[in-house]
Amino acid sequence: MTRSYVWWQTGVIYQVYPWSFQDSNDDGIGDLPGILSRLDYLQSLGIDAIWLSPIFPSPMADFGYDISDYVAIDPRFGTLVDFDRLLDAAHQRGIKMLLDLVPNHTSDEHPWFLAARSSREHPQRDWYIWRDPAPDGGPPNNWDSYFGGPAWTFDPATGQYYLHLFDPKQPDLNWRNPKVCAAMLDVMRFWLNRGVDGFRVDVIWMLIKDAQLRDNPVNPDWKPGDPPWLRQIKLYNEDQPEVHDVIRAMRAVIDAYPDRAFIGEIYLPITKLVHYYGPNLDEVHMPFNFQLLLMQGWDARQTREAVDAYEAALPEGGWPNWVLGNHDRPRIASRVGLAQARVAQMLLLTLRGTPTCYYGDEIGMRDTPITQEQVKDPQGIRSPGYSRDPVRTPMQWDAGPNAGFSANTPWLPLATDYAARNVHRQDVDPISELTLFRRLIVLRRSISALTIGDYHSLDIANPAIFAYLRTDHDQRVLIVLNFSATTHELDLSTIGATGEALCSTHLDRSGTVDLAKLAMRADEGLIIHLIRASG
Ligand code: GLC
Repeated sequence: MTRSYVWWQTGVIYQVYPWSFQDSNDDGIGDLPGILSRLDYLQSLGIDAIWLSPIFPSPMADFGYDISDYVAIDPRFGTLVDFDRLLDAAHQRGIKMLLDLVPNHTSDEHPWFLAARSSREHPQRDWYIWRDPAPDGGPPNNWDSYFGGPAWTFDPATGQYYLHLFDPKQPDLNWRNPKVCAAMLDVMRFWLNRGVDGFRVDVIWMLIKDAQLRDNPVNPDWKPGDPPWLRQIKLYNEDQPEVHDVIRAMRAVIDAYPDRAFIGEIYLPITKLVHYYGPNLDEVHMPFNFQLLLMQGWDARQTREAVDAYEAALPEGGWPNWVLGNHDRPRIASRVGLAQARVAQMLLLTLRGTPTCYYGDEIGMRDTPITQEQVKDPQGIRSPGYSRDPVRTPMQWDAGPNAGFSANTPWLPLATDYAARNVHRQDVDPISELTLFRRLIVLRRSISALTIGDYHSLDIANPAIFAYLRTDHDQRVLIVLNFSATTHELDLSTIGATGEALCSTHLDRSGTVDLAKLAMRADEGLIIHLIRASG
């Protein structure tokens, strides 16, 4: 039986961080017309969809994740007219567009919060989570915020604390109030009616908190210097059973429109993560799978275990996905080095399931050191050492002034290597990271075993190697990844006699390979089309 697939299953998603992609009006900040001017580039990558981090009006306490109006565009990024133009132009090129929906919290400057904080009696007071001080005058419970410090801020005018799991300028909405839910579903409809192709939903697993707001247990393994968000075990402020009801309500809105995608940002162990597909596949289409992003260290065995465990945990019909980078975590090329970053790209783009790529990773951009005085990220300000600014620096387009990003000084410093590492240069370099990225996407798209085929990992008696098969009907593709900086000769003759090399991470290999004597070079990944023995 031939199954049919939708675009978010067969496609590749590319995250654009609007602050840093392309400036068009010389204010040092990226914007929508800037993205529009780079659509040819995005199309040339072969990606299917872009996800834009938030572009809505915001005081920018958390760079757009603190929204003061859900149904407009921040003037730094442009206007609704610019937005429509971008959406239209993307669609004309066959590129879908996902927006970032941030329903857990608003800005403290959102009219809803201004109303709620105006008096205890205001009808919108209950749109947020307010509590009296503890008997000693302190916060109502022990919850930490993710950025460091308590999750409660006292409002002297009304004598109560409000909850904010992130910055004090990001008060949490009360999702137990049906009016909040209704308002947010209307926000979704506003953008869906405008033609967006779906949403990536920010911290979706946090929307509902324990009804009794009980204290979280303290994590016994946490030491000073560890990330602030690991200090407590988040037993009562995330992954609450009732959250699934609100996610289903959101999904019903998505389902009322044809062909839209609904992706949830969820940092949970996979056994819990997979519950977010919903018992009847009626919650998010894809709960982001962050295993490749969170992995400590980088080795073949651990990676195989992670992939196999995820494949085994997926519910029947639940479509997999993989994320290699985002605006919150160190970049892949900084985590594993440039040579292994190529192997990681090959992994991402040959695994089963939708890949999400982070802007700049396709040219091997690395984290840019930013001094504490220059830090802009609220997490980096509250918890020194955990700034996310280094992964959000401007896109490196060319060797010209400000890397072609802006005519003015960019809002964050540029990487110092931009003259050597940029799109313009890599575009014409036959062995660049960019050339590899494009080649991998072409293969993924043109070979159905890679687009939609099954996945089977192989037992290889070599701890440096992770190898797996992707198969669709009689098409078989073998992927062999060398996670080490040394060469290895492998005997894979049990899988087949010969194959045809389709792509090496070194971009210098083609033709027939002898599987009985497969020489894998240092840091090499190889995609091999298996040729069936005749007869
Ligand atoms: C998500 C975003 C992150 C933001 C946080 C609060 O984790 O990815 O950038 O700071 O939510 O909205």
